Amino acid sequence: MKLLTVGPDNIYTFKTVEEFAESFHLGPRDLLVSIEVIYQQFLEPYANGANVILVDKYGAQEPTDVMIDEFIKDAGKFDYDRIVAVGGGAVMDMSKVVAVAGGASIDDVIDHLPDFKRKVRLVLAPTTCGTGSEVTEIAAINRTRLGCKAGIASPEMFADDAVLIPELLYGLPDHVFATSSLDALVHSVESTLSPNATPYTRMFGYEAMKMIVGGYKAVAEAGPAGSPERRAKRNELMGDFLIASNYAGISFDTGGCAAVHALSYQLGGKYHVPHGESNYAMFTGVLRNYMEIKSDGEIAKVNRYLADILGCDVSVVYDELERLINQLLPKKALHEYGVTKEDLPEFADRVMKTQERLMKNCFVPLDYDRVLKIFTELY
Ligand SMILES: [Fe+2]
Repeated sequence: MKLLTVGPDNIYTFKTVEEFAESFHLGPRDLLVSIEVIYQQFLEPYANGANVILVDKYGAQEPTDVMIDEFIKDAGKFDYDRIVAVGGGAVMDMSKVVAVAGGASIDDVIDHLPDFKRKVRLVLAPTTCGTGSEVTEIAAINRTRLGCKAGIASPEMFADDAVLIPELLYGLPDHVFATSSLDALVHSVESTLSPNATPYTRMFGYEAMKMIVGGYKAVAEAGPAGSPERRAKRNELMGDFLIASNYAGISFDTGGCAAVHALSYQLGGKYHVPHGESNYAMFTGVLRNYMEIKSDGEIAKVNRYLADILGCDVSVVYDELERLINQLLPKKALHEYGVTKEDLPEFADRVMKTQERLMKNCFVPLDYDRVLKIFTELY
């Protein structure tokens, strides 16, 4: 049994982009990958002759096969030894694929992934505090030509260096801060409850939960939503949120995500709800159903641990957790996103048929009827 994989050779933190650029000697042998607003605000003064690709020109949505093929073609016009990707999950995931592709098409990469060996170095710096992509070997791609989503994984897609720079996140809109950190919280809980969790992954998972839920408490107590006090507290804690997202990434790269993600993909796929928000819509609904099936073991430990952080009785831990999170991002019922009653059996069917990779990591096995029950309760 594998206890832990930590992919990157090094994990760095720098307070500012300037410190990062100096330490990493950005220059003409680099391919710097980002999006326009981040490049203009932070990177341009330090690019130092690096080749630049701003991937938002391919589209603003989550990465698709078509976008990545354009990116691969553009990257082929440059000569470089290292890809330095600074951005959210989409920027990092696409860069991982381009780094291993070596000019081949995305379909080729996906169909023959074990044959692909990365020849350039890869540096990943996140600009959100959720995906943990900088420490995972996974890339999520929407294969629009086949009409399905694929999570692909290869050790070749691990970064050489993961770099945490809080300055990049100070301007995050509140909504993006909430959805991305919620994604990290879900990563930490799902991977800790996974049958593949190990003492090593749990150490990272529990610590991530403490930093995120404790951080939410501090942020919510600092002032009302949208207030400068709340923003100041959030930014003061941004280094912690980045590390928590990183810990959660390390935990789930080995432990794996499960039903919350599997169910969430249905809502996100059909109604274009941001990943962290669709996770939140499913989060406690899945946990409550686990509890109905099996209320002892790791889930009892997670509940006790969260109740201690929240300062509440363990019997109301999910209510209290939602009460706190709702101050950052109000939870919505599925019908509020446009979901119809007719969608529910279709969603449940797709979960069982297409999300086996995630569903095998559930705390307890969930069958079609249980998945449909969860969707119905959340409707
Ligand atoms: Fe996620």
